[in-house]
Amino acid sequence: MQRFQLLIPLLCCLAALGLACQDTAATTGAAAASKDWWETAQFYQIYPRSFKDSNGDGIGDLNGITSELEYLKDLGVTAAWLSPIFKSPMVDFGYDISDFYDIQPEYGTLDDFRALIKRANELGIKIILDFVPNHSSDENVWFKKSVARERGYEDYYVWHDGRLNSSTGKREPPSNWLQAFRGSAWQWVEERQQYYLHQFAVQQPDLNYRNPAVVEQMKRVLRYWLNEGVAGFRCDAVPVLFEVQPDAQGQYPDEEVSGLTDDVDNRSYLKSELIENLPETIDMAYQWRTVMDDYQRIHGGDTRVLLIETYAPPAYTMQFYGNRSVEGAHLPFNFNLITVPASSGFSAKSVKTAVDNWLLTMPAGRVANWVIGNHDQRRAASRYGVAHTDAMNMLVMLLPGASVTYQGEELGMTDGWISWADTKDPAACNSNSETYEQFTRDPSRTPFHWSSGANAGFSTASQTWLPLAENYKTLNVEVESAAAHSHLQIYKSLVALRRSSKTLQWGATKYAVLNEQVFVVKRSLAGSPSFVYVANLGESAAVTVNLSEFDKSLPSLLTLRIRSIDSSKAENSLYESNGLSLAAGEALVLSSN
Ligand code: NOJ
Repeated sequence: MQRFQLLIPLLCCLAALGLACQDTAATTGAAAASKDWWETAQFYQIYPRSFKDSNGDGIGDLNGITSELEYLKDLGVTAAWLSPIFKSPMVDFGYDISDFYDIQPEYGTLDDFRALIKRANELGIKIILDFVPNHSSDENVWFKKSVARERGYEDYYVWHDGRLNSSTGKREPPSNWLQAFRGSAWQWVEERQQYYLHQFAVQQPDLNYRNPAVVEQMKRVLRYWLNEGVAGFRCDAVPVLFEVQPDAQGQYPDEEVSGLTDDVDNRSYLKSELIENLPETIDMAYQWRTVMDDYQRIHGGDTRVLLIETYAPPAYTMQFYGNRSVEGAHLPFNFNLITVPASSGFSAKSVKTAVDNWLLTMPAGRVANWVIGNHDQRRAASRYGVAHTDAMNMLVMLLPGASVTYQGEELGMTDGWISWADTKDPAACNSNSETYEQFTRDPSRTPFHWSSGANAGFSTASQTWLPLAENYKTLNVEVESAAAHSHLQIYKSLVALRRSSKTLQWGATKYAVLNEQVFVVKRSLAGSPSFVYVANLGESAAVTVNLSEFDKSLPSLLTLRIRSIDSSKAENSLYESNGLSLAAGEALVLSSN
């Protein structure tokens, strides 16, 4: 902790001297002997339900994934993270697990999973699973036993009698806490005569991490899948693992109102100081890291990684990395490129803020990572604008550390439109036909586009579980592989460049905003070519930039290596760094030789 608190003022002073910033972590990394596989990895998120359907039921499955692992190999992916594949009633599409030790039948069997791991090993692709520690499904046998107060399971979940309203004499929920999908976070159970806590849907009861048996059970889950050959875990919804404990009278305190109002039903939003970002949660992540490290020590093989889902403030998020005396998660996800533009608009300035907010707060010696989308967000191409698809794929690949691609980002897939009748996401179903589009996550979960054929080659079913996005005939693997220049080919060139370039893996990082709408990044390493990323993130105006204003050491001529889809420049040609014109949306990767 102390280490990064001291580092921030120093780096901020550097930033204040000019627009550029230096990523010291990347620079000092060059002194180390070698990098571990995950430190420069290209992670690829598969949403199994929408990736590839092998048995014609309209739902993606494990054999479908196995059949397309060569596609991932071809992309240059290091590790694929599968969103949950475990037994589930699918209220929250697998994030409600009824058996943590088995596969959802519509996705396949344990043998199918073993075949997937075997094929992935043959191709040199690592498989990472989604670990959902905060809650189970209400159909999980643990919950049923807990409802029945069976011995050993009485406190597996967070139960409470509720509080008596002195004026009405009626029993009410224990506190005013709200669930993420609207409504109270407490649900009454007649059989047990108590309320249980659920920070997500009613059908997703929160496990009680103050019960050591729960902590052990979940470590068992981790070890079970490590035994099946997985390379690590993406850990779901980690900041909400612990809540405050009841007070001396046994009552839970209420959250204060946040001052923000839900404009749909005028309900006041609450702060979430009592139900997330507690210190106990950080310690639990450290304990999981010990499970990973012990496993590797005993069984050998490559590092097993922990990726943590957290949208918390930087001071909390950064603690997940660990500190001087303890190792934490390898990578707490960096969602800044999603959250900063969401609050301040998409611009070169907000992109710089997003980069600053990670690189200037990350503890020294840790590894950065970059994420532009996932199954909970609108698609990157729709959020940033289709014109900036390549610019953003280039950016995450040029910045230091690991990057994460959500399936379809390599194709420039955009949001599908889903009618109220077709809506499946509980976050939307808990609203109404007028407002659901503000909450729905379905548009980024539509089936993957393999071809221009029926159902985009995703499935042979007459109907897919979610409708396809309309533009699948032009944006798909088949068309983009055959085209002379496409998002897919740009993406592949980027991955190949990063895999082969010492500069991109080890080099120092400098970045700035130029001419208000251009974001520029330079990566450099002594004895290797430098790379420059330059992107016009503006809407309509062409600009000419003078790159020597950004970095005087750049040569006057730079070689164009990779260009965005509409760029009319020529690859492998030389361009003047002191008068580089950029059309709106144009993004380039250039090198010093
Ligand atoms: C985060 C997951 O990404 C999201 O899809 C899910 O609904 C919640 N956690 C609850 O598990």
